[in-house]
Amino acid sequence: MRPLEKGARLVVASHNPGKVREIDDLLRPLGFAAVSAGELGLPEPVEDGATFAENALIKARAAASASGLPALADDSGLCVDALGGEPGIHSARWGGPDKDFAMAMRKVEDRLQEAGATTPERRKAHFACALALAWPDGEAEVFEGQVHGHLVWPPRGEKGFGYDPVFQPNGHDITFAQMDPRKKHAMSHRARAFEKFLAALRAASAR
Ligand code: IMP
Repeated sequence: MRPLEKGARLVVASHNPGKVREIDDLLRPLGFAAVSAGELGLPEPVEDGATFAENALIKARAAASASGLPALADDSGLCVDALGGEPGIHSARWGGPDKDFAMAMRKVEDRLQEAGATTPERRKAHFACALALAWPDGEAEVFEGQVHGHLVWPPRGEKGFGYDPVFQPNGHDITFAQMDPRKKHAMSHRARAFEKFLAALRAASAR
């Protein structure tokens, strides 16, 4: 990875203050700071990529070129094998304008029933996260993480968000929504993508 100067500010291409704070907490020990695209008043680009990586790159490149600073963006979702990878990059959209994930989880379940997917083997799914780092000149790198498991029905647990109540990670008998959030955050698709990014950042800033 291209070295980043210590003390550099990285734009986080998200208008979600919670996400920006979390990323700032990860960057500070390494001597970097996060500033949000919202704070800089950057416009949100149209995410019309065909993959998580493409959408993350669209957001990171737009923020880097508008701000003149290196920028980070992520894109994530749930991919269900028996549904050909859907909802995938459309995971947020399946929740509709009201972000109704009870409805989105039911839609996934209805499709699985239509496909006759009744055994855990036929109900395999994974969460995926792509994290893109882009420089103002357009150079970029993508780091990806996944966590594999299967879908259960009915939904179980009150913690987490989105599709967490139906996702049971391999090696566990509880869903992400039943799991202590610290445990989920240590093994999630996002954690895995961030670990790769932080390792590359450490190596680049040690040079
Ligand atoms: P985005 O990456 O913010 O565009 O949204 C991804 C969508 O995927 C979210 O709205 C959630 O529905 C879903 N998703 C991504 N990560 C998770 C997760 O860790 N748990 C549950 N749902 C997730």
